[in-house]
Amino acid sequence: MTAMHSTGAARERGMTARTLGVIGDHAGIEGPLLPILHGLQKEFGYLPDDALRTVADSLNISRAEVHGVATFYHDFRHAPAGRHVVRICRAEACQATGGDAIAERAASQLRIGFGETTGDGAVTLEAVYCLGLCACGPAAMVDGKIVGRVDDAKLDTMLAECRR
Ligand code: FES
Repeated sequence: MTAMHSTGAARERGMTARTLGVIGDHAGIEGPLLPILHGLQKEFGYLPDDALRTVADSLNISRAEVHGVATFYHDFRHAPAGRHVVRICRAEACQATGGDAIAERAASQLRIGFGETTGDGAVTLEAVYCLGLCACGPAAMVDGKIVGRVDDAKLDTMLAECRR
């Protein structure tokens, strides 16, 4: 076995152990799938395919079922995030105050779609459906910090800071 193979195998074992740890944290609760997926996203920052396979095997449900739940909710990531996460509110109240144009501008400035990360790994762009700041739309969130009344200038500054 080469050093590279043994490193990969060790990483895989580590991921399985961490996944089983998260599953164990939710042992015995009713409807454990969703809380486990949230726990895995917290643990890894996204939902690795290998972890989802381990969840299916451990809960004795089909991989399709796990995959269906994991892809249904916007909150779950399926790849590691960039160094900064920019979330733009795409819900109705923000749309009514220009949120669509802000969303389009963000995607075009970053040259990526929603759910994607820039090639340099600096920014992941995500949609979010209400940040509880409806009266101050369009709203966004940068690395967990909520920003209201986002206009072109504010957005450009936010994105430039993320890419610095
Ligand atoms: S709709 Fe955007 S913050 Fe509520």
